[in-house]
Amino acid sequence: MKLVTPTADLHASWLAANAEWGGEHQDGAATHLARGLDLTDPVDFATWVEMLNDDSVAATNHWMVEDGEYLGAIQLRHTIDSPALADLFGHIGYGVRPSARGRGLARQALREVLTDAREIGLHRVLVCCREDNAASISVIRACGGVLENIRHVDEFSLSHGVSTPTCRFWIETAS
Ligand SMILES: CC(C)(COP(=O)(O)OP(=O)(O)OC[C@H]1O[C@@H](n2cnc3c(N)ncnc32)[C@H](O)[C@@H]1OP(=O)(O)O)[C@@H](O)C(=O)NCCC(=O)NCCS
Repeated sequence: MKLVTPTADLHASWLAANAEWGGEHQDGAATHLARGLDLTDPVDFATWVEMLNDDSVAATNHWMVEDGEYLGAIQLRHTIDSPALADLFGHIGYGVRPSARGRGLARQALREVLTDAREIGLHRVLVCCREDNAASISVIRACGGVLENIRHVDEFSLSHGVSTPTCRFWIETAS
């Protein structure tokens, strides 16, 4: 598996992955940027891909790709200067299409993005996941995550769609 810059060339494969997710929120994929776009349409898809690669936005998006097939996405947010990022979502979000899970892809992707984080000057990153997400907790711990706290559910988290306690981990990026 390689982490690549999002590309419109993977349209068909991305659509197949999207169908597997079955409408579930795709962590790390930044699909919210596509609001108002029809991602089945090649032109709209290319517009969304351009947004993902927009250097003026303080986030770096990568896709997990193997043999020309889209497998997942991972996003590194350069700052966590909003309460929602600092409390609930952290620096990094990721998701793997259902048919590709359990092969170590998220762990590999997270490890690689920790290097990117270090390169942009982040000495440690906050990685958050829901308390009931055993697979993600396992990925974060395997990458050196140290639990800071478990944030309870409140009106603020609910207003951001988070209805389960949030485990907040820090990972040192320095080698
Ligand atoms: C979480 C997610 C990214 C993991 O991706 P993945 O590529 O399957 O992860 P990996 O193969 O690198 O590692 C999965 C680990 O979780 C473990 N795991 C998988 N399902 C599990 C489960 N239901 N209960 C406990 N552990 C589980 C695996 O055994 C593995 O741990 P191990 O290496 O110690 O054996 C993927 O399940 C996913 O996309 N889920 C939906 C979106 C999401 O939750 N994103 C993260 C938000 S914080």
